[in-house]
Amino acid sequence: MDTESYVLPVREVIRETADACSIAFDLTDEAAGKFDYKPGQFLTLAVPSEQTGLVARCYSLSSSPVSDQPLTVTVKRTVDGYASNWLCDNLKAGDTLRVLPPSGIFTPASLDVDLLLFAGGSGVTPIISIARTALANGTGKIVVFYANRDQDSVIFAEEWARLSAENPDRLIVVHWLESVQGLPTQDQLKAFAATFSTYTSFCCGPAPFMKAVSTALRELEFPRERRHQEKFVSLGGNPFGDVEEIRAAEADLAAADDADEPADDGPSFGPVKVEVELDGEDWTFEDWDGKKLLLDFLEEKGVPAPFSCREGNCSACACVVLEGDLSMKHNEVLDKADLDDGIRLTCQAQAQSETLKISFNG
Ligand code: FES
Repeated sequence: MDTESYVLPVREVIRETADACSIAFDLTDEAAGKFDYKPGQFLTLAVPSEQTGLVARCYSLSSSPVSDQPLTVTVKRTVDGYASNWLCDNLKAGDTLRVLPPSGIFTPASLDVDLLLFAGGSGVTPIISIARTALANGTGKIVVFYANRDQDSVIFAEEWARLSAENPDRLIVVHWLESVQGLPTQDQLKAFAATFSTYTSFCCGPAPFMKAVSTALRELEFPRERRHQEKFVSLGGNPFGDVEEIRAAEADLAAADDADEPADDGPSFGPVKVEVELDGEDWTFEDWDGKKLLLDFLEEKGVPAPFSCREGNCSACACVVLEGDLSMKHNEVLDKADLDDGIRLTCQAQAQSETLKISFNG
């Protein structure tokens, strides 16, 4: 995974509903090979802003990496949301946007298992990417529960109908309209999911919807490794700044902090040995002080570790701890079950052991 941004031309802006549009990108020669992705991942876009220069926002890819579709994200307007409204109102074919390569861990480990996919509103974006990809390259059955406010809010309505017609033995799509049935309750979701208790679930949507689905699946004793949720939080920071400048500023701040409070920031033990797996490559370092944030240390060593917000808000930098342990200075995105599974945010991580083995391979 790459950590540099690229300027991509907009091929097309497609109006999906009154509130949602899809943005299809062309790849430049410079970006070719940098935007390979897995279904369920997201892009971070730099949206121009008169006030701040730009705002960074993550949007899930709706296209499938195994089709000939261009790289496409789908954006839904949020009330008073500057970036989503700017994109839907202003962007047009031929414009360019600065974009970070794909990131995220909301992606199936195998496309050959049976999938139970829950989507609420624009949470359908990564869900349709997973469904499209699994239908094209996988062998399992796919059941989609897609909740919306009303018929007009349904994104990809024709596409879902087409996919269902083309794959009658593999795909079932259930549309749930709040205007007709009310909000789906936890008991209703549980009754629905009970039939598919051996499937692997993925859920993306508004927080109350995800909570209801998650509780229903827990009550049905779906094991943790078969329950996946996209935890999307808007970025507070700006990942498009010059990495060297950011690092220098952080180093200055850290030095100033050290001068004030020399003994109160992280572990006190000596050099930490850290082994890293990323995209089929392995690295071993023996000189991490354990105190510098792990993402910063890895970048200094030339490891192309993924990141986006650098603030503990997005999970783009998440790794799995295989040996040893890491603490985090800040975490807005991982829940207890994630932590129990050894997932940590490297942009916030300091050592809790003298040896450590981590993997970015999910
Ligand atoms: Fe966003 Fe670490 S880069 S949580």
